[in-house]
Amino acid sequence: MSDHPSQTGRILQVRPGGPLRGIATPPGDKSISHRAVIFGSLAEGTTRISHLLEGEDVRRTVAAFRTMGVDIQREADGTHIIQGVGLDGLLEPDDVLDLGNSGTGIRLLTGLLASRPFLSILTGDASLRGRPMGRVVTPLTRMGAQILGRDGNRRAPLVIRGTELIPIDYVSPVASAQVKSAILLAGINTPGETSVTEPALTRDHTERMLAAFGGTVQRDGLTVRVDCWPRLTGQTVAVPGDPSAAAFPLVAALLTPGSDLVLENVGVNPTRTGLLDLLEMMGAAIERFNLRESGGEPVADLRVTHAELRGITVPREVIPRAIDEFPVFFVAAALAEGATILTGAGELRVKESDRLAAMAQGLTHLGARVTETPDGLTIIGQPGGLNGGPADSWTDHRVAMSLLVAGQRCREPVTVTRCDNIDTSFPDFLPLMTGLGMDLGVGDAP
Ligand code: S3P
Repeated sequence: MSDHPSQTGRILQVRPGGPLRGIATPPGDKSISHRAVIFGSLAEGTTRISHLLEGEDVRRTVAAFRTMGVDIQREADGTHIIQGVGLDGLLEPDDVLDLGNSGTGIRLLTGLLASRPFLSILTGDASLRGRPMGRVVTPLTRMGAQILGRDGNRRAPLVIRGTELIPIDYVSPVASAQVKSAILLAGINTPGETSVTEPALTRDHTERMLAAFGGTVQRDGLTVRVDCWPRLTGQTVAVPGDPSAAAFPLVAALLTPGSDLVLENVGVNPTRTGLLDLLEMMGAAIERFNLRESGGEPVADLRVTHAELRGITVPREVIPRAIDEFPVFFVAAALAEGATILTGAGELRVKESDRLAAMAQGLTHLGARVTETPDGLTIIGQPGGLNGGPADSWTDHRVAMSLLVAGQRCREPVTVTRCDNIDTSFPDFLPLMTGLGMDLGVGDAP
């Protein structure tokens, strides 16, 4: 943790607060928003996207496609209109494409651009440049892609000399929707059939959206197969609310006595509902109602009230379905009765930060009892509450929001440094949470 004021970035502070009550709508789903922009750009004709996440990550993807010649306009009501250029229509970008903090942006674009007949250079912020890119570069190179990067082609910036690829049947060693999607995006522009087999089912938004835009996607167990050169047609897409953003008010309400909250229009794709399952195992009752479809995805409204939680051993098979929610899940565990044990989650070390280390350190600073293991955490819960105090987010949006949620149940205010990246996924976090009753605002340097 940095004590240097110039390295504290944006500081937010929570004072232990009263119940969360009311109705809120989380921002558009980040994963689905990226894909809507990608497929809208590759389609023929017009795509209209409502409730697109206007966080920094998706803005970077929008900017990248604009640089490649795609006309993307935002209407006054927030609807985004894309004039698709077709699968062959992207232009060589005349500058480096900077994907900021976004692993989804850089990995999906690497797959897509590997087969385009031009040069592209992809980079991002310090966090993104430190994250592993070998997981997409290796299979794409087997398809014939020409990709150079730092550290033996394992880190961004990545330089892509697009070329015609050959299809593969790739058995991925890592459960990653970004890896799967990068190969599928390369596959749709490659003669023949390309398949990916994953070790566990990960979010299937690419498959759903490709099919919705007119592509052919076959699924056989854990294997997904795509055809080359589908003709994609522009669509109207209503992006569901992001369950990964909904997780913050949801856990805050669960942890705070007297809370009664409705979260509307939340995506409940089964590949994303692992957190709800884990919290239910811990004793939460989360009501799902108004189940419906939106943009080819299942959506529901969720009602959550305060509950006394019990620690659990996390079943390994749930991990890919809850992968982004572990930071806030650890907060719930730190305030539950008894021990919570997570193993087999080494992937958390290569997210926007090393989330096992960042959360172990942050929660320990607040007074929680946390032990870090190579691939997980063991947390002994303290249902009576934590102490509070200063903590650092490690520049990770979800670590920042999770530590702020913990502030609901601390005796002293919680001050979190380097919160700037909350804007990558949840630009309205502050007004949404304060609107529900949280005492959250801009803080002073600790
Ligand atoms: C995402 C996939 C996941 C997830 C990330 C978004 C996606 O990453 O953690 O926030 O949109 O495909 P991995 O593919 O690295 O598991």
